Amino acid sequence: MSDTHSEAAVTYGNYLKIDELLSLQQPRSEGPEHDEMLFIVIHQVYELWFKELLHEFDRVRRLLEDDEPHRAQHTLKRILTILKVMVAQLDILETMTPLEFLSFRQRLEAASGFQSDQFRQIEFLLGLKSEHAIRRFPEGSRARAALERRYDEPTVWDAFLQYLSREKYAVPERLLARDVIAPVEPSAEVQRILVEIYRTDTKNAELCERLVDLDEGVQEWRYRHAKMVERTIGAKPGTGGSTGAAYLRETVGRPIFPDMWAIRSQL
Ligand code: HEM
Repeated sequence: MSDTHSEAAVTYGNYLKIDELLSLQQPRSEGPEHDEMLFIVIHQVYELWFKELLHEFDRVRRLLEDDEPHRAQHTLKRILTILKVMVAQLDILETMTPLEFLSFRQRLEAASGFQSDQFRQIEFLLGLKSEHAIRRFPEGSRARAALERRYDEPTVWDAFLQYLSREKYAVPERLLARDVIAPVEPSAEVQRILVEIYRTDTKNAELCERLVDLDEGVQEWRYRHAKMVERTIGAKPGTGGSTGAAYLRETVGRPIFPDMWAIRSQL
């Protein structure tokens, strides 16, 4: 029987679409300026990592829904490893001096990481949702559709609370049925459950620790990005229209899972 797929043999190049990939770095500056290539490549690499993170977060949520805590933890470990690499990559960008960045900065016009829909999707999955963030993207665009979908989805925290409830912890009904659009608020009842878990339930305590790692990892990225911005553009406003480093500093240290931090002083 002849193969109905009579295409060319699979090669490294055609499987990974290397020709397409290598055609996607298009500097805008005259010359072009040497450092603009690094700037483009690093942002594209980040977007690919964001894509992979979203893929893995969807899996974590599904594994929690399927009562598979060990596999959820395993996937969280992968996510955390990617986050470490993402933080480390900022070192590369910090080899670019303020003057090197200025050589092409005005060609970015109003473009900014502010407009990364995948970053916002990650925030949505973690419970940091904003309608305003959705409205920045044109109706009918891929980005808008993806954000609208994630806006209505349960967050990782919701999946975790549902899982705990099935593990026979008395998570209040009002939290199990909470509006998944609303921010995750601290809860004394959940904190009592978490303290009990840390004292008596090793399996779930480990899972909690991975969620704390995740929270800390995201904050670490925010801190390093804010510092990089400060050393590169000082107190100048961002291309995306914010106050720049001052705005970014406000986002650092804001916990994703507040209960996980609150219980540290109760243990
Ligand atoms: C020289 C390098 C960089 C500079 C000067 C810079 C600057 C800024 C500034 C000033 C903001 C605030 C929004 C605005 O007004 O534009 C911002 C936000 C952001 N940047 Fe960067 N950035 C750099 C590199 C990167 C890289 C490599 C990434 C990776 C994707 C990135 C991702 C983001 C994200 C996701 C936000 C939104 C953060 C939030 O709203 O919490 N940035 N950036």
